[in-house]
Amino acid sequence: MQLFLDSTDVAQIRDLAATGLVDGVTTNPSLIAKSGRNMLEVIAEICEAVEGPVSAEVAATESQQMLAEGRKLAGVAPNVVVKVPLTREGLVATRQFTAEGIQTNVTLCFSASQALLAAKVGATYISPFIGRLDDHGADGMDLIHEIRAIYDNYGFDTEILAASIRSPTHVRDAAMAGADCATIPPEVFLSLFKHPLTEKGLDQFLKDWAKTGQSIL
Ligand code: E4P
Repeated sequence: MQLFLDSTDVAQIRDLAATGLVDGVTTNPSLIAKSGRNMLEVIAEICEAVEGPVSAEVAATESQQMLAEGRKLAGVAPNVVVKVPLTREGLVATRQFTAEGIQTNVTLCFSASQALLAAKVGATYISPFIGRLDDHGADGMDLIHEIRAIYDNYGFDTEILAASIRSPTHVRDAAMAGADCATIPPEVFLSLFKHPLTEKGLDQFLKDWAKTGQSIL
């Protein structure tokens, strides 16, 4: 499973990328606004910090404008993936991006039928929003299972990118459901390393090791 960071914090992206565990990055207009920075500059810096795909979202709502914006974003770096909302106009644009060889991430997916349409227009990634569905009273993980089944039934190669991840449990469940990737906020990414029994066990091992008076080096 590929692990992406859902962030526009370039320093934090660089820090976590140094672990070798970051396969890509996703951004959205809210994260760009939170950064307080120029979008094209932030995307360029992120694309230098990670080798993998970096999703940059269009702001237009009409397909021709989406295409103009997406082509500009795709020109920032070879690893830019153009993120497009799952609307009728967005899918028209996605179809054209696919024809032009521009990678796409179709975002704001909340139903399996939407995901079917995205695959039919050749989206590179589909982003089902797990946390926001949970917030809405549904079980977001059901959607990952449904999309996995549909894509496998018909051999679609659109990758399922589990988004709106809120916890390590979401990451585990998305992996078990067969998501190809998960995009994870930095604080959740950091918590993936941790377990209280790991910390407790290591503390005991280090105390016992100190008692031996030995040194490996
Ligand atoms: C990523 O592509 C999405 O924009 C992001 O995961 C949304 O997360 P949120 O629901 O926590 O804003």
